[in-house]
Amino acid sequence: MLRRASTPTASILLGIVLCSLCLGCSWVIGDTPMSTVHPTTPEGRLIQSIYAEITWIVLGIFVVVEGLLLFAILRFRQRPDDPSVPEQVHGNTVLEVGWTIVPVVIVMAIAVPTLRGTCALQQPPAADALTVHVNGKQWWWEFEYPDYGIVTADELHLPMGRMANLELRSDNVIHSFWVPRLMGKRDLVPSRGQRLWFTPEQPGWYVGQCAELCGASHAYMGFRVKIDTPEEFAAWVEREKAPAKTSMSDPGFLAFMQAGCIACHAINFEGSPARQKVGPNLTHIGSHTTLAAARFENTPQNLAQWLRNPPAAKPGSLMPDLNLKDEQFAMLVSYLQNLR
Ligand code: CUA
Repeated sequence: MLRRASTPTASILLGIVLCSLCLGCSWVIGDTPMSTVHPTTPEGRLIQSIYAEITWIVLGIFVVVEGLLLFAILRFRQRPDDPSVPEQVHGNTVLEVGWTIVPVVIVMAIAVPTLRGTCALQQPPAADALTVHVNGKQWWWEFEYPDYGIVTADELHLPMGRMANLELRSDNVIHSFWVPRLMGKRDLVPSRGQRLWFTPEQPGWYVGQCAELCGASHAYMGFRVKIDTPEEFAAWVEREKAPAKTSMSDPGFLAFMQAGCIACHAINFEGSPARQKVGPNLTHIGSHTTLAAARFENTPQNLAQWLRNPPAAKPGSLMPDLNLKDEQFAMLVSYLQNLR
């Protein structure tokens, strides 16, 4: 009997220990791209400090409550040689006042830093912040830089050391912009402008993800953020502002028009008829590291697979299967890969 009863208990305990070890490892190593516990912005660290404080408070409560519980279970357990009923107690003023005041103190200890942090993060951004319009689409991200006239998708470039002021918009459903290692998440609510600002301090790539269930391809609504050094960012701006290396007479552009891509996508060059904003702007698509909202790495094979049947790769995709012929695929893939 004892053996049977203890097996599930042992399994649960083992599970808890293993989970704790795994979580502890990711905390210590900090190499998890979607972890919030090692933020690299002052604003992210402010949120993390509140989270850490609450975690320690909760841990303290757990230890005290479980300690008292274990003490009571062991100290006052029924003994075979003692059939008596324990003393029955009702009402204890000191205890009752105590367990009213202590939770109030705990809640205040959580509420004060939380409110202070919330208010600090709701202030207007710095005057010299870089403004980017982040437009949530189904299911991809458009990034517009009004100061530079740049429109791109899937990869958000930001300069290190300068506050980024993201103006979040959606013209469809609610999405949520989240780059765990940079900053907390914020919803993109249709008909309501939202804002999120933070100051990147560490160059490199960051993983972002839509964090609000928004439809069939919510899980595939990812993006990347590249924090550039100021020099890298200036060079990127110059590259992005440059027109696409193509022309009206380019056979690749003709294939792009014949396939019907022109109905939804823009490619910027002098006199370009491709100006639609339904899908991502493809002017420099060849230089992106990923495709289709970070669904795939940007390789010729993946691009071909994506073009062949978009709804199969991303359920609900607005990009239809265009029923292209093999030679059209080859032409389009090499054309788009060369738009750098
Ligand atoms: Cu957009 Cu989930």
